[in-house]
Amino acid sequence: MWPNLLMYLLFLALPLKSWGYQVLHLADFHLDVQYSINGDNKHMCHDDGTERNTTLGEYGDYMCDAPKPLIQLAIDESARIFPNPDLIIWTGDNVAHIDGYGWEIVLDAVNQTTSLLFSRFPNQTILPTFGNHDYAPSNGFESESSLYTKTWELWKGKLGDENKATFLKGGYYKYRLRNATAVVLNTNLYYNANKAYVNFTNKVDPADQFAFLEKELSNAEKCPNRISENCTSIVHIVAHIGPGVFEKTPNFTWFRDEYNERFLDLTVRYANSIGWMIFGHHHTDTFHLIKDSKENNVQLALMAPAVTPWFSDLPGAGANNPTFRVYETDAYSKIQDISTYFINLDDLNKNKSTPFVFEYSFKDAYGITGDINPTTMSALLDKMKNNDTLFKKYIDYNTAFWNPQMPLGVYRGAQLCSMEYSDYPRYYSCLSKYTKSATRSLNIPLFSLFAIIYTELFL
Ligand SMILES: *[C@@H]1O[C@H](CO)[C@@H](O)[C@H](O)[C@H]1NC(C)=O
Ligand SMILES: *[C@@H]1O[C@H](CO)[C@@H](O)[C@H](O)[C@H]1NC(C)=O
Ligand SMILES: *[C@@H]1O[C@H](CO)[C@@H](O)[C@H](O)[C@H]1NC(C)=O
Ligand SMILES: *[C@@H]1O[C@H](CO)[C@@H](O)[C@H](O)[C@H]1NC(C)=O
Ligand SMILES: *[C@@H]1O[C@H](CO)[C@@H](O)[C@H](O)[C@H]1NC(C)=O
Ligand SMILES: *[C@@H]1O[C@H](CO)[C@@H](O)[C@H](O)[C@H]1NC(C)=O
Ligand SMILES: *[C@@H]1O[C@H](CO)[C@@H](O)[C@H](O)[C@H]1NC(C)=O
Ligand SMILES: *[C@@H]1O[C@H](CO)[C@@H](O)[C@H](O)[C@H]1NC(C)=O
Ligand SMILES: *[C@@H]1O[C@H](CO)[C@@H](O)[C@H](O)[C@H]1NC(C)=O
Repeated sequence: MWPNLLMYLLFLALPLKSWGYQVLHLADFHLDVQYSINGDNKHMCHDDGTERNTTLGEYGDYMCDAPKPLIQLAIDESARIFPNPDLIIWTGDNVAHIDGYGWEIVLDAVNQTTSLLFSRFPNQTILPTFGNHDYAPSNGFESESSLYTKTWELWKGKLGDENKATFLKGGYYKYRLRNATAVVLNTNLYYNANKAYVNFTNKVDPADQFAFLEKELSNAEKCPNRISENCTSIVHIVAHIGPGVFEKTPNFTWFRDEYNERFLDLTVRYANSIGWMIFGHHHTDTFHLIKDSKENNVQLALMAPAVTPWFSDLPGAGANNPTFRVYETDAYSKIQDISTYFINLDDLNKNKSTPFVFEYSFKDAYGITGDINPTTMSALLDKMKNNDTLFKKYIDYNTAFWNPQMPLGVYRGAQLCSMEYSDYPRYYSCLSKYTKSATRSLNIPLFSLFAIIYTELFL
């Protein structure tokens, strides 16, 4: 009896999973330096000088983007809980959802978040990338931008000289990890809201990024051993925007059709050489399966929830609680578990000692045996379709418990079909099965209209 109890106590005292390779992921800070507790939460919580008899929370408001104290806290708390991650992935969108700003705002936001993160994790490998808002005006990404030269100065110490050429060309690069290679892409180039598209000199392959990705994947496929001096057999893909469709708003796509198809074709063709596919941008917690033409699930794209709580007024969307997460991996190709941490923003504003707390483990919450991979996640999705208790769990985590509502009709379809199909044709066909059985009256053509109007404002 006693030895068992001792063993048990010893087990409890062990630091959280000291084995393996921990990857900390921070997504979508959206720092708003104009956030004010005297602000108007119907107008981004900016102070317009109006006398008000209530004040907003010091750490933010569900209607608005993150003030600095919230971002500082998220970074401090991630360092408290994970003082020594093997790798930090930071998938961009540092600038708030505001209009009419110039480069000073972008560079100041990126510099501030860089300083916070780099000073808290001085010795860690940190892989940064841009979000679609890290541009002035937002969604104007092109090749050879002054953004790349300016941020290179901030990030070159972490990224290394060998990445300078591709970074200055298109804001993308690769990084050799312990025994795999991370390819960090600037997928804002593929965003259908990117206004610079009209000026792309190479519309087929903006900034030659597809060629770069394909070369890395083909090198991996040819790499003679799993790990060699000049290559690795596994490439991880990291970016802000991932392929596929927004899960909360029916028919709301990100990449231009032709870029989504090209991206997916590459991930299908080289599926065996790809390890993790990790993205942000949605602000919500979800995933996309990638299928080949025979409906085999060959890849899995994971979308991490955000730090900013910002309310999106896209149909079916909304706000979220602030989060960050850690992937437990084998340092090679497998994701063994994903632990997400969150903070209830209302509680934090009432009591500034409120900590970020463990939200859930993918494996435990969803009862997954084995790794987090296309097969196990496809099995999970199949269960969700017929088990509302399980689906409700996913819906709770989708916004980190911010106002979780079971989606109905076409909104339910949007959730399930976005997880099932990353390619648009099969997504549309999947969604069409839900529109007819909608249990809530919906004006379908209006959606498409909303989608067009909001594209520029959104996420
Ligand atoms: C705050 O101001 C509004 C509008 O001026 C008023 O209706 C409300 O009663 C005031 N609330 C308090 C607590 O004073
Ligand atoms: C970036 O931030 C650091 C630390 O706050 C500051 O010292 C530096 O002047 C800033 N640089 C730019 C280019 O804004
Ligand atoms: C980072 O590394 C330097 C040099 O190895 C060391 O002096 C410093 O204490 C380390 N900082 C942290 C926070 O681990
Ligand atoms: C396209 O390039 C022209 C010429 O440099 C520039 O004036 C225009 O603003 C650019 N358009 C976009 C949407 O970036
Ligand atoms: C790496 O080296 C191996 C063995 O020398 C060679 O076969 C392979 O083509 C090289 N790969 C790259 C990407 O240079
Ligand atoms: C979604 O888009 C497809 C293709 O454009 C269209 O056929 C379908 O009616 C749309 N569905 C909804 C719910 O808007
Ligand atoms: C990756 O690296 C770690 C530590 O260096 C090692 O233990 C592990 O076996 C490696 N994985 C593969 C697949 O080579
Ligand atoms: C504030 O939160 C801390 C940490 O959870 C707790 O110890 C403390 O009692 C709370 N204070 C109040 C006034 O509720
Ligand atoms: C549905 O999912 C819940 C939560 O994971 C689980 O406890 C329950 O056993 C499942 N029900 C069925 C019929 O599989």
